[in-house]
Amino acid sequence: MKIYSPVEVIKRKRNGHVLTKEEIHYFITNFLNGDIPEYQVSALLMAIHFKGLDDEETMAFTKELIDSGEIVDLSHINKPKIDKHSTGGVGDKTSIILAPLVSCFDIVVPMMSGRGLGHTGGTLDKLESIPGFNVNLSTEEFISILEKYNVCMIGQTATLTPGDKRLYEMRDVTATVENIGLITASITSKKIAEGADGIVYDVKVGTGSTLPTLEESKKLAGSLINATKQFNKKAIAILTDMNEPLGYAIGNWNEIEECVTIMNPKLKTNPLSDDLIVVTLTLAGGMLMLGGKCRTIEEGISLSKQKIESGECFDKFINMVEAQGGDSSYFKTLRPYPGAKVREEITIESDGYVSKLDALQFGLAAVNLGCGRKKVDDKVDYSAGIILLKKIGDKVKKGDILCLLFGESDEKINHALEYLRTGIEISATHITKNTKIIEVIA
Ligand code: URA
Repeated sequence: MKIYSPVEVIKRKRNGHVLTKEEIHYFITNFLNGDIPEYQVSALLMAIHFKGLDDEETMAFTKELIDSGEIVDLSHINKPKIDKHSTGGVGDKTSIILAPLVSCFDIVVPMMSGRGLGHTGGTLDKLESIPGFNVNLSTEEFISILEKYNVCMIGQTATLTPGDKRLYEMRDVTATVENIGLITASITSKKIAEGADGIVYDVKVGTGSTLPTLEESKKLAGSLINATKQFNKKAIAILTDMNEPLGYAIGNWNEIEECVTIMNPKLKTNPLSDDLIVVTLTLAGGMLMLGGKCRTIEEGISLSKQKIESGECFDKFINMVEAQGGDSSYFKTLRPYPGAKVREEITIESDGYVSKLDALQFGLAAVNLGCGRKKVDDKVDYSAGIILLKKIGDKVKKGDILCLLFGESDEKINHALEYLRTGIEISATHITKNTKIIEVIA
């Protein structure tokens, strides 16, 4: 039997070689059983970041992450099982609406998400801002909630892709998020393990996405579809714009609130959520199409709108929150949530049109406010965040408030302001809003 050494594997990747399945198996299993320390894993991740993974290495990584836990068997539920996963964005909260929405169509949505990664927000952190909400369910609890409500939202656990959980935490804080192979393995492993049989990928394009160019995002879409199809699952990718934050809220609790204002027909929806609604409905249309409930995305969009307007989607959201231990009274009576200690306004310095709200800088500012982590064991501040009062293309006057920042100290606010300094621009001439849906890749 061949004897492997962590240093040799790291060196081979550093020197641009293709790793064998056996080397990848050796590295991941020994990391997970504690024999390879985190500093050597960090070194391998950085070598992969620079040298990449080819298709076979990506598949080997994906399989190792799946095999690090179990695969949920949902075959006894005689309904389509469809999910969506985003490659990561800023203010990207579509999952919170989509999961309950699509479950209204008798489609099972077994959604396994992630936490904040790099400058991008994470669905699990947003859900955990709801007091009591438990994303760490056992597989039995996950299945039982899916049987009852068609929807459940969890994270990687000790039994479901624990390998991704550990690597994900390390990538978040070692600047090794932005790699097509690692992203593909991380996302696809979760989708296969959760038991979905069709997946819509929301591949973000623009400054706030995990990959900087349209070309790279298209490659990522191809890689995700290719890997998913190798497991005999259906997949489509929708490329969506991530040059400015989606909707008006960036953070955790404030993003949940924004979703509730869209789902609850008794509340007034803020027009600054328009882009969020377009992207969410388009993804829902894709999910309904994969689930065989309509023939085109457009048809799925119009069916989905009706479920939001009727309040069915909101009822499903409440069912899910309660089933997962969350305190739904915050949504039924709009109880006040603990506020941040410090609040700061950014005002506009000249008349004109908002021409830049750089999603990357807003994402980094949000992490620095406490919405994400800079070290693995950092605590997330659920009340921290940013609220936009203007979006790109809006006409503005000197003195108007552009956005509000919330955090626990002046130091954090000042740090966030540093990022935003280069992230905001006002132009004297009229700016047209970007289209949010760039391309559908089937
Ligand atoms: N979402 C994931 O689950 N993993 C990634 O690597 C990026 C986005």
